[in-house]
Amino acid sequence: MSELLATVQALPMWQQVIGGILLATSLSVVINVLSQVLLPRNKSLPPVVFHWFPVIGSAVTYGMDPYRFFFECREKYGDIFTFKLLGRNLTVALGPKGSNLVFNGRLNQVSAEDAYTSLTTPVFGKGVVYDVPNAVLMEQKRFVKAGLSVENFRTYVTQIAAEVKDFIKTDPAFLPLQKGSSSVVVDIFNAFSEITILTASRTLQGKEVRENLDKSFAKLYHDLDSGFTPINFVIPNLPLPNNFRRDRAQRQMSDFYMGIIKKRREGSVEGTEHDMINALMEQSYKNGREINDREIAHMMIALLMAGQHTSSATGSWAMLRLASRPEFIEELYEEQVKVFGDGTGGIAPLDYDIQKSSLPVLDAVIRETLRMHPPIHSLMRKVKSDIPVPPTLAAPKSSKPGDNKTYVIPKGHYVVAAPGVSQIDPHLWEDADVFDPHRWLGDRAKKYEQTEDKQEDFGWGMVSTGANSPYLPFGAGRHRCIGEQFAYLQLGTIISTFVRAFKWRLEDKLPDPDYTSMVVLPSQPANVVFTPRK
Ligand code: HEM
Ligand SMILES: *[C@@H]1O[C@H](CO)[C@@H](O)[C@H](O)[C@H]1NC(C)=O
Ligand SMILES: *[C@@H]1O[C@H](CO)[C@@H](O)[C@H](O)[C@H]1NC(C)=O
Repeated sequence: MSELLATVQALPMWQQVIGGILLATSLSVVINVLSQVLLPRNKSLPPVVFHWFPVIGSAVTYGMDPYRFFFECREKYGDIFTFKLLGRNLTVALGPKGSNLVFNGRLNQVSAEDAYTSLTTPVFGKGVVYDVPNAVLMEQKRFVKAGLSVENFRTYVTQIAAEVKDFIKTDPAFLPLQKGSSSVVVDIFNAFSEITILTASRTLQGKEVRENLDKSFAKLYHDLDSGFTPINFVIPNLPLPNNFRRDRAQRQMSDFYMGIIKKRREGSVEGTEHDMINALMEQSYKNGREINDREIAHMMIALLMAGQHTSSATGSWAMLRLASRPEFIEELYEEQVKVFGDGTGGIAPLDYDIQKSSLPVLDAVIRETLRMHPPIHSLMRKVKSDIPVPPTLAAPKSSKPGDNKTYVIPKGHYVVAAPGVSQIDPHLWEDADVFDPHRWLGDRAKKYEQTEDKQEDFGWGMVSTGANSPYLPFGAGRHRCIGEQFAYLQLGTIISTFVRAFKWRLEDKLPDPDYTSMVVLPSQPANVVFTPRK
């Protein structure tokens, strides 16, 4: 031993340091592995996913491909298991019953704000969404719902179609066509990011935002978005340049919206009656307090962020999936001709009411895209008090019938719902890995209808609690998405406008999913070849 010590001491300092680090790392790996294999496990806690490295845990396997990770863990541990992610305990609850546990957990058991605020509050700003108690969020969702009215939606379809046509006619991405070429290769995710923000600002966000998109607003959006990354969920507020840019952009964007609201209150702006700022300016809390301008500004930022990533990702996947199966593009085109055609080759403009009720194929294409590519793969809550797991979801292996042993998810853990797993589970779907919009049509659709859909009002209108559904791309319960109808309207109008103008195909193969961003994106390049219809 003393010889070893002498040898080590004879080494240069830096080699001693590196040697020490290596030794400590290997020791901690060994201790970590042995403790998982040898130490008795508390049988009432969910099984823990095996991991080589302490602290880091399963961060790498989960981060690279969460779906593969979830399916492999389900194989080994069942529907409930805990994995370590950078020092935290995340308990995943899979299957429809698992989603139900997370989405419909009681307020004293699960908290969305505690899970999300470190990520969202620096981006959205204070006083809204996850920076306020749940009861206030529920009221704020009621305010937003007022703006998402059918009356407003009717005015949006024409505006969205106009933006898309204008983009095709003027954006450099379509330059070869503008110069008379017979086809063009377009990076579909880049194009859809632009189209999504253009159409959302023309409609929901309002004309001042749309006018400034070509100027300062685009840069602000870009800087703010650079701080909207998953790392801020696990290690918030690292002193990184993108977080500084985020904070500066948040202040400037907040002031920008405040300026818009002030001008509008002075009564000098026309043509704003159907946008969200207008709707929010008329709202007040149940205790009589009016919503203030700062809150409106921050809610507008929250809506911008919530809608932008989800819609641009979903739209891109829809276009790519269609490109991989061009017969569905023709089916969509025939549906447009059947519903909007005048019989002499002409085709009427898109219309909200018709689109909502009479375009089943379009609807099925979006629905099927969201089945295979839900933008959000993991939905989180922080556990506030121990949650007993219903034995119908999972029970400890050692339990015998009648002894009522249940798993407990302890306070301090996070619970994770991953409805995307059920949505591609081969036990629940015929040809689960095949993009097949027809499964949502006619008799085949009956299989997926919710038989016992429970509804509840959390303060912003009746909403499905979605208990036991294998298909929940918009979540369920009190935190369920309020943007679903807008998303269908926006995506439906954009896709229809492309279907009317083009045929398209993949340039190469279907891109793999990229899980490193806030939402599941197609990895680059995601190129599509457009050919104009005659
Ligand atoms: C394809 C498009 C979209 C998808 C798939 C989607 C998905 C979701 C999901 C899964 C949730 C639940 C989050 C949770 O339980 O933790 C959610 C919540 C929400 N979404 Fe969406 N969303 C979409 C578009 C939009 C749009 C366009 C807006 C705004 C106009 C929006 C606004 C919201 C809001 C305000 C919430 C509520 C958050 C809460 O109560 O905690 N979403 N969305
Ligand atoms: C994670 O769970 C383990 C086992 O229950 C516990 O000892 C540890 O304190 C937990 N860690 C955190 C950060 O809650
Ligand atoms: C096992 O975990 C449960 C739930 O957190 C706790 O109540 C119980 O005291 C633990 N048992 C032991 C032996 O640590």
